Amino acid sequence: MIRITSHSLTSEPLFHLRAGDASYVFCVFHGFLLHLYCGPAVEDDDLTHLLVKVGHDSVVPRPADTPEGWFSLDIAPQEFPVYGTGDYRPSALLIRRADGSAATSLRYVSHEVLAGKPAIDAQPAVHAREDEADTLAVTLCDPGSGVTVRLYYTAMRALPAVIRRAAVENPTNSPVTVERCASASLDIAAWMEPAELLHLWGTWGRERTVERTPLAHGTVSVSSRRGASSHHHNPFAALVTAHTTETAGPAIGLSLVYAGNFEIAADTDPFGSIRFTAGIESTDFAWRLEAGESFVTPEAVLSISGEGLGKMSRTFHRLWREHLCRGEWAGKVRPVLVNNWEATYFNFDSEKLLAIARDAAACGIEMLVMDDGWFGTRNDDRSSLGDWFVNEEKLPGGLRPLVEQINALGLKFGIWFEPEMISPRSRLFEAHPDWALGTPGRDKSVARSQYVLDMTRPDVRDYLFETISGVLSSANIEYVKWDFNRNLTEAASATLPPERQGEVMHRYVLGLYDLLERITSAFPHLLLEGCSSGGGRFDPAMLYYSPQYWTSDDTDAMERLDIQLGTSFVYPASAMSCHVSASPNHQTRRETSFETRGHVAMGGAFGYELDLTTLTDGEKDLIRRQVADYHRYYDLINRGDLYRLILPGDTVNGKTGRFAAWMTVSADRSEALVTFVVIRASIHPVYVLRLEGLDPAASYREESTGAVYAGSTLMRAGINLTSARRGGWVDGSSAVMHFMRV
Ligand code: DGJ
Repeated sequence: MIRITSHSLTSEPLFHLRAGDASYVFCVFHGFLLHLYCGPAVEDDDLTHLLVKVGHDSVVPRPADTPEGWFSLDIAPQEFPVYGTGDYRPSALLIRRADGSAATSLRYVSHEVLAGKPAIDAQPAVHAREDEADTLAVTLCDPGSGVTVRLYYTAMRALPAVIRRAAVENPTNSPVTVERCASASLDIAAWMEPAELLHLWGTWGRERTVERTPLAHGTVSVSSRRGASSHHHNPFAALVTAHTTETAGPAIGLSLVYAGNFEIAADTDPFGSIRFTAGIESTDFAWRLEAGESFVTPEAVLSISGEGLGKMSRTFHRLWREHLCRGEWAGKVRPVLVNNWEATYFNFDSEKLLAIARDAAACGIEMLVMDDGWFGTRNDDRSSLGDWFVNEEKLPGGLRPLVEQINALGLKFGIWFEPEMISPRSRLFEAHPDWALGTPGRDKSVARSQYVLDMTRPDVRDYLFETISGVLSSANIEYVKWDFNRNLTEAASATLPPERQGEVMHRYVLGLYDLLERITSAFPHLLLEGCSSGGGRFDPAMLYYSPQYWTSDDTDAMERLDIQLGTSFVYPASAMSCHVSASPNHQTRRETSFETRGHVAMGGAFGYELDLTTLTDGEKDLIRRQVADYHRYYDLINRGDLYRLILPGDTVNGKTGRFAAWMTVSADRSEALVTFVVIRASIHPVYVLRLEGLDPAASYREESTGAVYAGSTLMRAGINLTSARRGGWVDGSSAVMHFMRV
């Protein structure tokens, strides 16, 4: 819902966006867009009392047509601050005119309410029907240059989420260059409590580790300049207070629907105002707008919670599941798969795959995924990327006979590609050396013996579309794992003029989107799984095309607790691909029971990644039970609400890093599944776990013991697990408890 009134200070428009149980309020003041409030819903519209005489700094200029004595752009809380006219904090927009000048001033022109959430351009975006969302578009103009900016705000009706983006248009006769353009910026002027930035850092094998950093005067930020959203920082951060917990306190999550370079920053000024900004990172960004052209930013999504981080996460989960992921598989039960990567690495042939498939079929597994190494002459990672034709030495007769035999066993078949890459040792590179990104006169950096294709080029994308389509049409292939194993360097394109080389990083991402769109449209039944050397490009933009994503190459169950629970701050279980792998684990050498590996992998899109032919009968029996449990609890895990009860880094009873626990509750609160893992056992343990999200007035039966508890008891007093495990709790032991309302 969007309420538009005029406010008491200047009678200019005031906009109150109600999104679920949150309010987002801003107004026009002497032509400037000023932010008033973002948080749990408030009834009053006119919040301009929060603005009045915010103080001023005598050294700071003010726009000549604003009230003397107290108004300053450097202090005023703004919606889309610009560079060069008296706001010295980080700008949302910097445009350079043909004369070289960069000073800009944005003034309100008009506004418009649009039904639902209109599609603004071809980039990944949240979708909503007309009865699910309302959109406000506010048009601003820079009187000096004639450049206009349109700010879009969508308020979801049933969720406390506001989605923002900006479009810059050059209606003038001379070119301008956009050197910086945020998707969203908001100034929180009066939080009054010590603030922190919660973000997800990582690297290969340690993706999305949760960190909380106190804000300091100046800027605290996370970013990527790698050409991909990256392992290193997820395109997400939340503004929280030092007192915010899982269940209490303010949390404003900001997630960028973008797969490329980004920056999310919180800048604190001397008056305690926090500017929270998200958008494309500007180090190597300069987008030229000829007369009549426009530039549209990626979307930024605000998840607004007054009740802690858990609620912020659940809002993101529902939004991504129901309003971002698309296509047949967005809501469909995903098949349990076995992937041969950790089973064989590059060393496989049809016989080996069929042996795995036979055991998979006998265990109830539903799909076999053939990973890297099936094409060109690829027997290690030093060649053949780009040569997407079958290596018949490994797969005699090509894909069709193999896939037919696998289908005959009752299994689907999936395949691995790394479309955006090219090996210097490949036929493709011999034929088209200019198809790799590179700067003239400079050596190309290598990573994993590969270069990156220039995805800005339509001819490169056409080649990829044709060859990938050819493979997909050659047999009954129902799944693709889309990998991306290195970051960009020397990012210049042989086909763009010098004044457009600053566009390469963003054009690369737009080219990637274009190819993904073409493939998913041409093969609408295909299940696409994203991957980037593990979970290196796990972001909402990739989820728009691939509803599940390989979470990490670290498949150790104990390490996965950090990774999966960290990932859950923004992404739902349905998006996280999680596999049971061998013990000792290939990455950490740690031994963990088959049961616990299953319990942890069940926290996402479930599968196996080990050589099934080496398992004992007992382990195969366990797989049958795990597959049955996966189907039984599918709805609960994938469509329920997640509550993080204990994070692996929490201190419980004076000990840190000992447990992890989480639960999912069905939307009607009739059913819940609780997972409890003892990372490191101790002597004389006391394990009492308080549950969440249940109906306090209802009673619940725990399936394995038959015991009945009141919801209020489970949530307030807890359940005593101290002696709940036969044989006692040991390192790496776990339990899953299923509660049904009686
Ligand atoms: C990186 C992925 O994360 C792995 O799962 C596997 O597909 C390898 N690439 C194959 O090269």
